[in-house]
Amino acid sequence: VAPLKVGIAGLGTVGAEVVRLIETQARVLAGRSGRGIRVVAVTARSKAKKRGIDLRGVDWAKDPMTLATHPEVDCFVELMGGAGDPALSAVDAALSAGKSVVTANKALLAKHGLKLAKAAEKHGGALNFEAAVGAAIPVIKTLREGLAGTGVNRVYGILNGTCNYILTRMEQEGLSFAECLKDAQRLGYAEANPSFDVDGHDTAQKLAILASLAFGTKVAQSAVYVEGISSIAPEDLRAAADLGYRVKLLGVAVRTAKGIEQRVHPTMVPKSSSIAQVMGVTNAVTIDGEGIPPITLVGPGAGGAATASAVVADIADVARGIRANPFGRPIAQLRDTKKAPMERH
Ligand code: HSE
Repeated sequence: VAPLKVGIAGLGTVGAEVVRLIETQARVLAGRSGRGIRVVAVTARSKAKKRGIDLRGVDWAKDPMTLATHPEVDCFVELMGGAGDPALSAVDAALSAGKSVVTANKALLAKHGLKLAKAAEKHGGALNFEAAVGAAIPVIKTLREGLAGTGVNRVYGILNGTCNYILTRMEQEGLSFAECLKDAQRLGYAEANPSFDVDGHDTAQKLAILASLAFGTKVAQSAVYVEGISSIAPEDLRAAADLGYRVKLLGVAVRTAKGIEQRVHPTMVPKSSSIAQVMGVTNAVTIDGEGIPPITLVGPGAGGAATASAVVADIADVARGIRANPFGRPIAQLRDTKKAPMERH
């Protein structure tokens, strides 16, 4: 069988790690997929940057669009980020050409997920985005495949590694918000524009994607109420601790009689609760299924290696010929997101 030919747009921390994993894990991946996986073309802002990866024999496309429509590429891997262009047009073009797409881009999916899923459905390619939520944690697959037979009533958790890292270090070491953020950026956890992390938008994007999969609704970031952590100081965390609480930035999506309530805000959680034990860059997602006890997935929620691991798993699915409905069901079956009125909790 011919190998799957992959084109990668974006060679930052995640992209470079994906190239490395495809090479070092080649035997395992071929074993699981029944065929090889080969990076045939790439594109990135700088060709000269030292990345420590072997790109000999790999074609450099002049821009993301050229790569997305490259005749050699079967699977377009979008790791540039950003809800608009160039990511949007390139992903749309790849899907419209019948290619499969793997992306880690939650901003793009939260805003244009429905349109892109339509293009995938129409032209037959896969649209895989396990890395977009919870990095290495297989939460998309859990909701889409693992819990396909179960109704979901609530999905919630810690979905932003940067914020949890900041809150953890502020509480444990009394450091300032700014110092902790700088470290999160240095470690490669934060978004290019870190206000997406600290103002709660990254959590809102991920929550909107999870809610769509959990409830069979059209992904709608605009239906999420958002509050971030930028005004929290070490003193606030100390005051909460004195009362037996820890502060966590939570994303919560609940099915209610009045619609789907989706909200992101800092929340005081009892120190003895399991969610309070989730520290540092770790993410945790709890799914309340109908008639079964809650399921919680915990793991690394950001960083090059953790994100690349999920991207490569998605590429392996494409190689194996597995094609899921991106949001769990055919587009025609996805319902509009009826927004429940927010109640203060
Ligand atoms: N900036 C994101 C985070 C990266 O900190 O969680 C992973 O999506």
